[in-house]
Amino acid sequence: MNQTPILSAKDLDLFYGENQALKSVNMDIPEKQVTALIGPSGCGKSTFLKTLDRMNDLVPGVTIRGRVEYRGRNIYAPDVDVTWIRRQIGMVFQKPNPFPMSIYDNIAYGPRTHGIKSKAKLDEIVEKSLRGAAIWDEVKDRLKKSALGLSGGQQQRICIARALAVEPDVLLMDEAFSALDPLIRVQMQDELLALQSKMKKTIVFITHDLEEAVKLGDRIAIMRDGEIQQTGTSEEILTTPANEYVRCFVENVDRSRIVTAASIMVDKPMVARLGKEGPEVLTRKMRERKTTVLPVVDPDGILVGEVRLEDLLWLRKEHILNIDSVIKKEVHSVLSDTVVEDILPLMTKTNSPIWVVNERREFEGMVPLSSLIIEVTGKDKKEINEIIQNAIKL
Ligand SMILES: Nc1ncnc2c1ncn2[C@@H]1O[C@H](COP(=O)(O)OP(=O)(O)OP(=O)(O)O)[C@@H](O)[C@H]1O
Ligand SMILES: [Mg+2]
Repeated sequence: MNQTPILSAKDLDLFYGENQALKSVNMDIPEKQVTALIGPSGCGKSTFLKTLDRMNDLVPGVTIRGRVEYRGRNIYAPDVDVTWIRRQIGMVFQKPNPFPMSIYDNIAYGPRTHGIKSKAKLDEIVEKSLRGAAIWDEVKDRLKKSALGLSGGQQQRICIARALAVEPDVLLMDEAFSALDPLIRVQMQDELLALQSKMKKTIVFITHDLEEAVKLGDRIAIMRDGEIQQTGTSEEILTTPANEYVRCFVENVDRSRIVTAASIMVDKPMVARLGKEGPEVLTRKMRERKTTVLPVVDPDGILVGEVRLEDLLWLRKEHILNIDSVIKKEVHSVLSDTVVEDILPLMTKTNSPIWVVNERREFEGMVPLSSLIIEVTGKDKKEINEIIQNAIKL
C-alpha cells in the first residue's frame, strides 16, 4: 500500500476483564476504500471496529494496550476529544437504534448539531441521505412520522442515512445489512457501490458473508481468535492465502469472478519480433521451447497477431524470409484485469493461448489454456496433462 493509511491499529490488545478479545492487532485502513472485516462469530470483529472510534470506552472492565492512529494521531492519547473522534468516524450498528423522533429529525439531527439551520439545506441533506440508504421512495411521504413506526429493515436504513447525513470522514458498519431482507440487501449493496464510486468514502464494514465482502470490499481482512490472519484484495487472499486457515475460509468462493488474467498469466513469454526475426530463427526458438504458436509484436511492443509453427516451416521450405504473409491478425486478447469468468468463453473459440495486452495494446503476457483449466477445475498440472493425453488417445 503506497498511500498513508487513514486509520492504523498498532499492536492493539483489548481485554474484557481477564479475557483477551484482541491480540496484537496491526492493521492499516487505506483512505477512500472499502475494507471488509470477516471471521467467525466471537473472533473480535465488533470489538475491533469499536476500538476505531473508542466505543469500547463505555464498557466497564475494558483494558486497551497499543494504539489506534487516525490521520497519524493516537486516538487513545489523553488530550484527544472523544466527541471530535466520533464526529469524524461514524458508526452503524447491527441492530437499528433510531432516535424516538420523526424520520426527518433523525436524519437532520447530526447536521443541526453541526450548526446547519437552513431548511432548504437540511431538506437537501435529508433527501440525499435517504436516497443513499435506498429508502427515500418508501418514506418520502411520511417524513414527519416517527421513525419508530417503521419496520426493522426500514429502521436500519434510517440509521445508515443518519450516519451518511453528517458526512463522516470514516464510516464503520457492523453487519449493517445482515438484518435486511435479501432483495433490499442487494439494493443496499448496490447503493453502497454507487455511493462509493461517486463519493469515495472510507468505509470499514463487518460481514459474515464472504460474497458480500468480495462484492463490496476493495480489501478484505480475515480475523480469527482476536488476531488478523490476512489483509489484502480478494484476489491476493484467494491466490496467495497467508495460511491454511485463510485457504479453507475462502475455499468455496467462486474464484472465476475474482481471479484475473494478471494472476495466472505467464509474464513476458517468448515473442516473434516483427521485422527482426524470420522463419529460420523463430522455428528454432519454438522447437527449443516446445511451443507451436507465438505472439507477434511490432517494434513498439504492440501485439499485431500470432504465428504458428506449421506456417513458419512452410515459409522456410519456400525460402520466404519474412513472416508477414502468415501472421494471423484476428487473435483473442484481454486486458490484465479481465476476470477468468470473462476469459473462459474465448477458450471455445481458439486453441491458442489468450494474449494479455494493456490499453495501448502493448503485449504483456499470455494465459495458456492449461492455466485456465487448472484455475476452473482446481486440478493440478499433472492431472490436466493426463486428461489431455487420455483425450488424445481416444
Ligand atoms: N461487553 C463485553 N464484555 C465482555 N466480553 C465481551 C463483550 N463484548 C464482546 N465480548 C467477548 O469478546 C469476544 C469478541 O466478541 P465480538 O463481539 O467482538 O465478536 P464478533 O466477531 O463481533 O462476533 P459476532 O460475529 O458474533 O458479532 C467474544 O468472546 C465476546 O464474548
Ligand atoms: Mg459482532
